[in-house]
Amino acid sequence: PEGVRPEVAAAVGDWRAYVEAKMGFRNHWYPVRFSNELAEGQLITLQVLGEKLLLKRIDGKVYAIRDRCLHRGVPLSRKPDCYTKDTITCWYHGYTYRFQTGELVNILAVPDSRLIGRRKIQSFPCQEAKGLIFVFIGDMDPVPPLSQDVPPGFLDDDVMILGKHRVVNSNWRLGAENGFDALHIFIHKDTTLRHFRTFNFPIGHTPLPGAVQVVEDADGPKGVIDDFAQHKPIWDGVIDGRVVVRGPRSQQVQGTSASVGTSIWLPGVLKVEQFPLPGLTQFEWYVPIDGKTHLYVQTIGQQVQTDEDRQDFASNFESIYKPHGLDGFNADDIWAREVTEPFYADDYGWVDEMLCEPDTTILEWRRLASRANRGVQTPQDLR
Ligand code: FES
Repeated sequence: PEGVRPEVAAAVGDWRAYVEAKMGFRNHWYPVRFSNELAEGQLITLQVLGEKLLLKRIDGKVYAIRDRCLHRGVPLSRKPDCYTKDTITCWYHGYTYRFQTGELVNILAVPDSRLIGRRKIQSFPCQEAKGLIFVFIGDMDPVPPLSQDVPPGFLDDDVMILGKHRVVNSNWRLGAENGFDALHIFIHKDTTLRHFRTFNFPIGHTPLPGAVQVVEDADGPKGVIDDFAQHKPIWDGVIDGRVVVRGPRSQQVQGTSASVGTSIWLPGVLKVEQFPLPGLTQFEWYVPIDGKTHLYVQTIGQQVQTDEDRQDFASNFESIYKPHGLDGFNADDIWAREVTEPFYADDYGWVDEMLCEPDTTILEWRRLASRANRGVQTPQDLR
């Protein structure tokens, strides 16, 4: 696993922890799969923050343990031997672990071993909410509530959430910054979203004083809010006095932008209001898989009251929001992140980049993340 160049971390001043968090911030909750992807009794493997995990659903509840035998370090998943519903036995010499606790409950080939009942494989708290499985990567005790690690509104009772996930070949921070980056609106000037909704999308916009708000309440989520209503929009791109590109603009729509604002929250989750259509909210996570890839968990939330509302939302999600928003619009974001990755891969990008005025919002996020995180995931944490 990747360490971070100390000379780069030392050079960035008040956002050092952010540069060090190449594999993410530990002691936070991360969504890793949708609940309907893990059936009763099913076992899956996945990687998050460099940790290789085994997840199993037992009597309805999800449990996660590290996918590495205590004896000689082999992956249990190489040949999963589950002789009872809540244990897994290592295929090599028979070390047997209980999913709920991680406890070494037996060594089938050495039933009298003094190790039995006295050792534990690392286990990770799991919680399901809004149809997603969240895993807490860390060792903090007590474990902070999930509500501190999701954007405001996500857990509201009347909000229904649907979504998808996919692997993106870039560091998680390039995902977070692409989403929150006010200036990246430029990449979306040709978005396919224009074909099914009318909206005003400047080619750029710079936050005016007061647009950016940092939220750091002790008991709530920590994040940075950027209010698009307080931005100065740029509609025409001009070279040598000639307009060469125009942002889509319609008289039918009030306001300057598609959304009223974006916000980014620890440990790396974006909230976009009134998007991809008015009345909807997009919540999306950039979950570190390792230092080079992240799981892009894209969800859309809508307030629903009745079963009919729920059915309408589900049907519109499949026919409109997913194809045009999560697949169409966000495809631009994905390739941008993957093309940005090589510049930052050896860490020098963090000092060689040349940010400009609207990028101050990104710097606010880097600073907030550096002071409000609960720990940096390092290669040592994977031992
Ligand atoms: Fe797992 Fe020996 S390596 S029991």
